[in-house]
Amino acid sequence: MRAAGPRRHSRVRESDHVRAHVETKVRGIRGQLVTQQPGGEAAGAAAELQHHRGLREGAVGRKGVEGAALAEGSRVLGAADEIVEPSRLPVSDEPLRHSEVILLASPQRLAVAVLRRGCRLAPAGGGCPHSSERRLPPAPEVPEASLRIEPFFVEQWMNAHETTATWNIAETCVHSLTLDELLELSGDADGVLRRLRETWLGYGEITGSPRLRAAIAALYGARITADHVLTANGAIGANFLALYALVEPGTTVVSVQPTYQQLFSVPESLGAEVRELRLREEDGYLPDVDALRALTDERTRLLVLNNPNNPTGALIDEPLLREIVEVARERDAWLVCDEVYRRLEHEPGTTAPSVADLYEKGVSSGSMSKSYSLAGLRTGWVAGPREVIERCLDVRDYTTISAGVLDDALATVALEHVDAVLERSLEIVRGNLAAVDAWIAREPRLRYVRPRAGTTALVRYDYDVPSVDFCQSMFDLNGAFVMPGIAFGEEHSFRLGYACARDVLEGGLDAVSAYLRSLEG
Ligand SMILES: Cc1ncc(COP(=O)(O)O)c(C=O)c1O
Repeated sequence: MRAAGPRRHSRVRESDHVRAHVETKVRGIRGQLVTQQPGGEAAGAAAELQHHRGLREGAVGRKGVEGAALAEGSRVLGAADEIVEPSRLPVSDEPLRHSEVILLASPQRLAVAVLRRGCRLAPAGGGCPHSSERRLPPAPEVPEASLRIEPFFVEQWMNAHETTATWNIAETCVHSLTLDELLELSGDADGVLRRLRETWLGYGEITGSPRLRAAIAALYGARITADHVLTANGAIGANFLALYALVEPGTTVVSVQPTYQQLFSVPESLGAEVRELRLREEDGYLPDVDALRALTDERTRLLVLNNPNNPTGALIDEPLLREIVEVARERDAWLVCDEVYRRLEHEPGTTAPSVADLYEKGVSSGSMSKSYSLAGLRTGWVAGPREVIERCLDVRDYTTISAGVLDDALATVALEHVDAVLERSLEIVRGNLAAVDAWIAREPRLRYVRPRAGTTALVRYDYDVPSVDFCQSMFDLNGAFVMPGIAFGEEHSFRLGYACARDVLEGGLDAVSAYLRSLEG
């Protein structure tokens, strides 16, 4: 009935014994430097590494171990006479952009160091503060189930501050509606309430009610029907389903960055080599198609976009998106695009194109949270080819069963009155962005690429303060709450969420200005 999805356990084929062995070790001892003496096994592993991966003795490469579940930027030191000590690792002044796995193999021992993102490789005696140089006794075999994932910086920063912030200008949702306001927008509050009261509180339709899926499908072109839509627990649930369904270990995934961390950390945790396509300020944070093409190879199965982009608010127009689709097509790769900010374009008459409309292997995720200002409904979706919907369903059976029936009913009300909901949202974001523009113009040491869509902007500052310190000390001073740019690998910047209530935005911008004055003082 369903197309065969990727078989995750297929990576442990007999001929891949060494690869599987290495993967297991990498996953099991994250955060530590470990040496092991598994006798012949390590000698075999070292020989295999050299033989199969073409690594020269002592070589340091950025290519990682082909097919192994190492993070992007992983470095492999081939077979060496001795284990290389951390103090002899290459020195770098730049904080690491990704966690790095460093695998050292000698005829006697395997050693693996995992260096956390943000740390530096210091000269002799320094070392990474997050990687222990402790030597441990041989680690027990760790099953694959112990797979780890990077902590989600953005969500953790939000969780830590959002309830105590005075001025929450970090939030990315359009100022949320109350239930009363939604009923009001429907124009039929009594009818909606009556239907809610009569709702049968079972699991409901497993894939989402046909009425909701039809309303979601109407946000796309003719290719997407209700059968091409699957509801999920927010866009975060939708992204997870799509990524879990489509990422195969040992393949390469290219993801834009800066973006929502989930989009590259989940593929990384599933054993893909994630390559970062950095969006640059000088390009208006739009993807460079040649750079994208150069990052792909014959192992590329998936490209990941986020359009409109969080945090920059950049918008990929249809001609550029079609060029990106061509790159995906050349590799016969899936193209997943997080489109949670779609329909929040600032230029009247502009709508962000969807990958689901432009590409036969395009998969779009969306939700009620941002553009439709109903995050509390926790309703999102995947829209794409039937094959993907079926693969996602197989995953979703393990995580969701079905989305809540009341959420489903209220999301249906909102999307059946989508014009009224969006009119309110657009009024908020367009009006608020004008206020941000005026504020940026008054602050000579701030700059930004004006967002073309969405609810966020990446604001760069000209003060010699790391972004976490900047944001935390501002929060401590006056409760102004923004997101450190380092969450997106962009130092000396912060993400501003400007779709909040106007009084919160204005109070927040004043509070940021007061903090800037304190830095100058
Ligand atoms: C790009 C992006 N995707 C997904 C999400 C998750 O949104 P939700 O699960 O509320 O739909 C967010 C939230 O900030 C986001 O910015």
